[in-house]
Amino acid sequence: MWLIVPVILVALAIFVFKYVFSSPGPNPFETDTRGPLKKMVHDMKEKNKVLKQGFVASKVPDNLDAIIIGSGIGGLGLGVLLAKVGKKVLVLEQHDRAGGCCHTFTEKGFEFDVGIHYIGELMDHTPSRCMLDQMTNGQLQWEPLENPFDQVVLGPPENQRRYPIYSGKTRFLEELKKCFPGEEKAIDEYLKLAKKAGDGIWLLALLKLLPSPVAKFLVYTGLAKRLSFFFKMAPRSLTEVVNELTENKDLRAVFTYIFGTYGNIPKDASFSMHSLLVTHFLNGAWYPKGGASEIAYHMIPIIEKAGGAVLVRAPVNRILFNGSQEAIGVSVMKGQEEVHIHAPMVISNAGIFNTYQKLLPKELQALPAIQKQLSMMKHGEGGLSVFVGLNGTKEELGLKADNYWIFAENNFDELMVNYMNGDREESAKKVPLVFVASASAKDPTWEERSPGKSTLTVVTFAKYAWFEEWKDDKVKNRGPEYKELKQAFIDSILKMTMEVFPKITRDKIEYIDAGTPISNNHYLGAMKGEIYGADHGIDRFCPELYATVRPQTPLKNLYLTGQDMFLCGFTGAIAGALTCGSVILNRNLHLDTIVLAKKTKRMNDKLKGDYELLAEVGVGCYGKVYKAKEVGDRQRLLAVKKFSIRGEDSESGVPASMIREVALLRKMEDLNHPNVVKLLDASAVPVGTSLDLTLVLEYIDQDLLTYLSKVPATGLSRERVKDLMRQLLQGLDFLHTNLVLHRDLKPENILVSNHGEVKIADFGLARMHTFNMALTPGVVTLWYRAPEVLLNSAYMSSVDMWSAGCIFAELFLLKPLFQGYTEVQQLQKIFEVIGLPSEKDWPKDTPVPYSPSWGPKGSSTKLLPNLGPDENDLLSQCLAFRPSGRISAIKALSHPFFARHPKSSVE
Ligand SMILES: Cc1cc2nc3c(=O)[nH]c(=O)nc-3n(C[C@H](O)[C@H](O)[C@H](O)COP(=O)(O)OP(=O)(O)OC[C@H]3O[C@@H](n4cnc5c(N)ncnc54)[C@H](O)[C@@H]3O)c2cc1C
Ligand SMILES: *[C@@H]1O[C@H](CO)[C@@H](O)[C@H](O)[C@H]1NC(C)=O
Ligand SMILES: *[C@@H]1O[C@H](CO)[C@@H](O)[C@H](O)[C@H]1NC(C)=O
Repeated sequence: MWLIVPVILVALAIFVFKYVFSSPGPNPFETDTRGPLKKMVHDMKEKNKVLKQGFVASKVPDNLDAIIIGSGIGGLGLGVLLAKVGKKVLVLEQHDRAGGCCHTFTEKGFEFDVGIHYIGELMDHTPSRCMLDQMTNGQLQWEPLENPFDQVVLGPPENQRRYPIYSGKTRFLEELKKCFPGEEKAIDEYLKLAKKAGDGIWLLALLKLLPSPVAKFLVYTGLAKRLSFFFKMAPRSLTEVVNELTENKDLRAVFTYIFGTYGNIPKDASFSMHSLLVTHFLNGAWYPKGGASEIAYHMIPIIEKAGGAVLVRAPVNRILFNGSQEAIGVSVMKGQEEVHIHAPMVISNAGIFNTYQKLLPKELQALPAIQKQLSMMKHGEGGLSVFVGLNGTKEELGLKADNYWIFAENNFDELMVNYMNGDREESAKKVPLVFVASASAKDPTWEERSPGKSTLTVVTFAKYAWFEEWKDDKVKNRGPEYKELKQAFIDSILKMTMEVFPKITRDKIEYIDAGTPISNNHYLGAMKGEIYGADHGIDRFCPELYATVRPQTPLKNLYLTGQDMFLCGFTGAIAGALTCGSVILNRNLHLDTIVLAKKTKRMNDKLKGDYELLAEVGVGCYGKVYKAKEVGDRQRLLAVKKFSIRGEDSESGVPASMIREVALLRKMEDLNHPNVVKLLDASAVPVGTSLDLTLVLEYIDQDLLTYLSKVPATGLSRERVKDLMRQLLQGLDFLHTNLVLHRDLKPENILVSNHGEVKIADFGLARMHTFNMALTPGVVTLWYRAPEVLLNSAYMSSVDMWSAGCIFAELFLLKPLFQGYTEVQQLQKIFEVIGLPSEKDWPKDTPVPYSPSWGPKGSSTKLLPNLGPDENDLLSQCLAFRPSGRISAIKALSHPFFARHPKSSVE
């Protein structure tokens, strides 16, 4: 132990030194970009406009910052990270749709997904979840699986044993102990070891990110193994560890069943890799709502928004290098022709073997540094998937949101060795393991999309060599022998499945086909039909490999991302993207996601317990505002507003309309948006005919009015105006989507935090004010009121956009645009600028008659001096007289004023 402390200190010192003296790049998770949930799109034609944008040279954006080869989650994820800091990225995909293992395909009306069955660690506020929320702007939703999420089935039909696997640490243990009485100690010990090994994964990421000499030092001194139980246990096989724990054969099998999620049989699997999967699902399992195609569908627009593109049918055939062995671009095969695309950085998501063995020129492939990396990795095992389309609902077919791992017996090592080493025709008849899952049963939108139908996917392992001879034949036309072999696999796999799912009968099957290792090769670009990329056996976990195979390749400007860079699985491939992004942006994105998770958790936390008032910070005519501090361990600063609202009708107690408003306000406790002040608690106590209302909010000590008063006379920069407006509109859009109108938006109730975050406050309160008879006119400003409100006419969410327009102008003027002191004067001030509307636009329901004497006729085209054309256009769309002609918050956000991105300063 004595050595460890100083070494960690040295490592940290170097780490810190590196980051302090080479300033870190921008943080893609700096601002919370989750937007309000948009309506889901189910129409595949519509989705394909995003997912299937075919490659043509004219669609390639110019001045690219980076090219990414492959659109798996490792490629798209990295693309999003870079796009979020303003980089223009081109993602090139060889298949005809984006997504890699996350793509889906449709046959006979059944949508099948390929490589996403369940993903762990997605409870609210975990780093994984927060990161994915940000990477999809809050649009991708996750649906939890059943608990038990996995069912392990062992043995032949006449002697079949079933073991449900539950999530939740306590539940996992309890339920296993119920199945295996007398094995309590083994079960506890197993989970203890798995957790301890799983927790050591931090060092794996660190070895890839530490400066190379430090990483190598940790490896060659043996410290890596001493520092992390992960690396300590990594050389031990799963079989070895489990056999020490128990003699019970079924329990040994249940301890090891999940090896199929990374692809090495227990005797070849590293106990540490296995531990990662066990702990991955310990808190539950999730499936993407709307199916796996939702993942790419919500990531691509973020890449496009920064000026990038994701193009498919774009097989990269080689990476281009210049005379100094520096990557300068890629070559894409378009028919028989090469199209060359240049960029200062090339990142490959195509896997280490594809990248080094197929895309590098021979002389670079031969470099010792490249050969060394190749010698450390092996191809992983091939996979075979059977896709079944069924007539019937999940209820009719007995399908649930869970997975089945069905094994011929409990001696996995022996069964699998015989199978994989067997002759292909023989092996086809005795498949020892199938994984069965129904995507349709997991997706709550399925019933709406494909009523009365269901899907089933069954996966097993298969040798690439069994199918290799047909690899160059045309897809879907590989001849009768290929078909026959495939059919033999389908038959035995189906038989095993139907024995466990008796409600699935042959007459229910409307579609069935199989994807073999050579299909994986064709559709996923998997060189040897690998199911999980490079092999995850014991050799993969020697610390040296992690310090050697890193995002930076031995060739300048060429990087690796995705599952081969980190680990397999959706989460492993994303970790690959984070690791690669960390290197490119020169900051630790793994840490950034942890900070992000803490931040969002803090924001979404409901107020627990009590608070103490610190000071009175404001007195209005109808209440007081206090600064307060949360009691307990979190000690957040709070703003507490206390109002007393008098009902109009003194006879009959609190009016119903007021009760409704309070109920609405309470609903707002559930609203979470970075640009809306978080309401932590709302409570109302009736006192006679009045209500004593207390609102507890997050505390921000500056409003926009104060903020603007500190701006120097030279004014705000255009970028700052853009940023403030964008945040304001995002907040408004969120409120409007949730059917909340503000009605009284003004600089006093727009808050600006120390970090420059804009937050809308007092939304929904305006209605409360209408109950308050004591409201004095002097306090209520008319300056931001929309004309329809001034005219007492009907109004809708567009009133807030008028106010937003007034505030927009104020950001340039540094003083209010329209300063009237009576309603008539306010209207006159407005018409002086926007011109008097025509009589036909005058609202029909206003008590105020139209009069030509209100102001000058006709509208002026330029509202303010010194505005650029985009600025002027946006302002005039906000200040449209007719509410129906006014721009909405969501439209305003895509106005050209916001479109142009500042050139990023990162490199
Ligand atoms: C059947 C199956 C089931 C799975 N189930 C799960 C599960 O339930 N949970 C889970 O977490 N993980 C699961 N996985 C694993 C997970 O899907 C993968 O580990 C992960 O998605 C890999 O992501 P990636 O970005 O690294 O690679 P990929 O998704 O494989 O992406 C690589 C991309 O590069 C493209 N490409 C390759 N060469 C070129 C080239 N020359 N030019 C252009 N493009 C190229 C490929 O076409 C591909 O789209 C499963 C995988 C399979 C196959
Ligand atoms: C190769 O490209 C890099 C950067 O793009 C450049 O600095 C270097 O001079 C180039 N070398 C040659 C030989 O063109
Ligand atoms: C599906 O099953 C229903 C009865 O359960 C039957 O009426 C219908 O014809 C079947 N559809 C197909 C396409 O087989």
